[in-house]
Amino acid sequence: MEVARTIRIAPSVLDADFGRLAEQIATVEAAGADALHLDVMDGHFVPNLSLGVPVVAGIRRHTQLFLDTHLMITDPGKYAPAFADAGAGSITFHIETVDQPRQLIRQIRALGVKVGVSLNPGTPAEAVLDVLEHVDILLVMTVWPGFGGQRFMGECLEKIAVLAKRMRPEQWLEVDGGITVEMAPRAVAAGANTLVAGSAIFGTPDPAAALHALRRAATGAPRKAEQTA
Ligand code: DX5
Ligand code: ZN
Repeated sequence: MEVARTIRIAPSVLDADFGRLAEQIATVEAAGADALHLDVMDGHFVPNLSLGVPVVAGIRRHTQLFLDTHLMITDPGKYAPAFADAGAGSITFHIETVDQPRQLIRQIRALGVKVGVSLNPGTPAEAVLDVLEHVDILLVMTVWPGFGGQRFMGECLEKIAVLAKRMRPEQWLEVDGGITVEMAPRAVAAGANTLVAGSAIFGTPDPAAALHALRRAATGAPRKAEQTA
């Protein structure tokens, strides 16, 4: 029998209206978002720039939400302390960027934040096996990082399933990229317990309704239960 799991939804602000960021965040916070996903890009590890330390600090002043910080940057160790100071709740780095992941995990944990490791669609599950037991979050990319609004890569589902079997229930298995109401149940069926969604929430005229729809799709919860929650 399938065991019911709590599925966390973490809206990514990458597709939000940055001119009204606090308002957009307040909307998803009121709608029951479980965390806020912050995509940090350096124009080097990924071919795009996004937000940095001052934006994280500014967001911290305007929300109670847990700040799930995804560093798509070449030198995560150098900048992790600044993001921790800015109020990140977790700091996730890419396995492709480091030679000594265990050392970086210890270094990030010493900053008093949760630690995550991420892997690109082209990186095999084996690349994170040695560090899996030491992290709080495993972030599986289901698009090539750098841009919101891309299509979910179905070929990553098998990797999610392989890694899910090796994780403890309290660890976040977070799936990032192309999550929609169609793909959310497939990611959850593969073992995800946390879903990042950017364009599927902020790319719609009603982000709160979109978040509710994603949660319904991910959990199969009836509409009525959610409205009274
Ligand atoms: C991509 C980012 C994602 C992105 C998700 O590089 O890591 O978090 O914002 O956006 P959607 O949900 O539109 O794929
Ligand atoms: Zn992300």
